[in-house]
Amino acid sequence: MLDTTAPPIVAHDPVDLAMRQVDIVIRERLSSRVALIDQISGYIVGAGGKRIRPRLVLLFSEALGFDGPERHELAAVVEFIHTATLLHDDVVDESALRRGRPTANAMFGNAASVLVGDFLYSRAFQMMVSVNCMRVLEVLADATNVIAEGEVLQLMNMHDPDLAVADYLRVIRFKTAKLFEASARLGAVLAGASADIEEACAGYGRALGTAFQIVDDLLDYEGDSKELGKNVGDDLREGKPTLPLLLAMERASPQERALMRRAIEQGEEQGLSDILAIVRRTGALEATRDAARLEAEQACAMLQTLPESRARRALLELSARAVHRSS
Ligand code: IPE
Ligand code: IPE
Ligand code: MG
Ligand code: MG
Repeated sequence: MLDTTAPPIVAHDPVDLAMRQVDIVIRERLSSRVALIDQISGYIVGAGGKRIRPRLVLLFSEALGFDGPERHELAAVVEFIHTATLLHDDVVDESALRRGRPTANAMFGNAASVLVGDFLYSRAFQMMVSVNCMRVLEVLADATNVIAEGEVLQLMNMHDPDLAVADYLRVIRFKTAKLFEASARLGAVLAGASADIEEACAGYGRALGTAFQIVDDLLDYEGDSKELGKNVGDDLREGKPTLPLLLAMERASPQERALMRRAIEQGEEQGLSDILAIVRRTGALEATRDAARLEAEQACAMLQTLPESRARRALLELSARAVHRSS
């Protein structure tokens, strides 16, 4: 069997072995009696991915001293939820490349992608029920609901050049940070941590997830498609106002601002290089990375209440990597 466990994103990964176990759970739970489901879910999961969210479940479990098999199950659950959102997101965003492969919608069509996304969501719910803990269900039911709200909120913000930075941040807290938050929180819930510790873990996940999505939006402007495994320039093509563009508009000349406003209103493919030049010149890329760095620092601050351990060190390293990543 192909081992698709992602290479560790932190050195001396303390949850390396547990991640292998998660990979086994993922493969077992993917199976369906419907061939097309096996084919499509195997296609996207087989392409790998960084597996950051399951790693959060494991690292927080480890940091707080929980080593039961439920951690593997819940780590697989958050990866399934994440994968379901990707299947749906690529349909909504009309994206063509994911994890270095043509997207499932490009390969199998929109209908099949949406339906297999539903399969993964509902399989995730079957799995979380098996853990037999009401608090776990509550955390994950809330998270999936907020993610959906975030995606719809974002849809409402498309083509709006007057979007406030605060409203952009609200979208990313919902669509991305919420699942990071839930993943971190689940580690604490499994370990039976105090309410204070649980909130600190959740706060780390929330801030890390925010930093992560800000950098994702940055990489859509300055990244490399090959390295990212996704096409860059998708956000502008779609008319999606993200932080690099919002900050560039604040700093640009009236003429440049008019160009960017039009690009957001209409979606822009041809003018990407002109707009990228403006985004660069105004220093918006550095300012975007600074915003991500601030979030990552907040994430680190949340770890102060956790006892010193290899897992805690890995979490600190993870937040630094989130800011400087290129894939
Ligand atoms: C992609 O998430 C979607 C965002 C929230 C930006 P990841 O970058 O974690 O995707 P994979 O799982 O590694 O492909
Ligand atoms: C990621 O959003 C999808 C979710 C968090 C649900 P994006 O559309 O910004 O991410 P990519 O660039 O497609 O991975
Ligand atoms: Mg997308
Ligand atoms: Mg999207």
